[in-house]
Amino acid sequence: MNIAFLASHGGSNMQAVIDACKAGRLDARPVVVICNNAGAPALDRAARAGIPGYHLCVGRRCPDEAALDREILATLRRHAADLIVLAGYMKKIGPTVLAAYRGRIVNIHPALLPRFGGRGMYGRHVHAAVLAAGERETGVTVHLIDENYDTGPILAQVTVPVRPDDTVDSLAARVLEREHVILSETLQRIVQGDIKLPAASGPAP
Ligand code: GRF
Repeated sequence: MNIAFLASHGGSNMQAVIDACKAGRLDARPVVVICNNAGAPALDRAARAGIPGYHLCVGRRCPDEAALDREILATLRRHAADLIVLAGYMKKIGPTVLAAYRGRIVNIHPALLPRFGGRGMYGRHVHAAVLAAGERETGVTVHLIDENYDTGPILAQVTVPVRPDDTVDSLAARVLEREHVILSETLQRIVQGDIKLPAASGPAP
């Protein structure tokens, strides 16, 4: 399975997957990293791992979102990506990429969906909302994406305790630690066929 990553910032989940591939815990090959921020550490991580990295955003080369969508798809195809992992990708996937890779785009969300998901629920906002709601438990969700925010089929979830003295930072750190494990594990379950992805409806990627 050839994995493509779309990332916006740190890429620590991406790194965990790359490391799992290297260590033989995940039978997959990271083939390309696409990032919408030029200075994102995710691109440095790609370079260090010897994975081709691309900074793609709306600009001179891609004048609008539709052109960017097409360029992302062309890049994915050029690198023969079978599956896309959204590793902290802060932008919505365009309709062209979604149509070509429907059922093959995996996202990781730092809470137990369907709760604490949706537009605006990302990063620190998620953990702040969990704390404000007085939850005693939060978690991680790995899911397929569709055209809405955080609503696609859930592939795996793991719970993480919320401690009475938690801050957004302490909770985010505890959740992130679990993210790094469950993402690679879930991808390996896909590789092994324990998790069956929906049959592709459109043309092959
Ligand atoms: C993670 O918390 C993930 O759940 C969310 O974005 C964050 C990305 O972190 N989708 P990193 O870039 O992988 O370090």
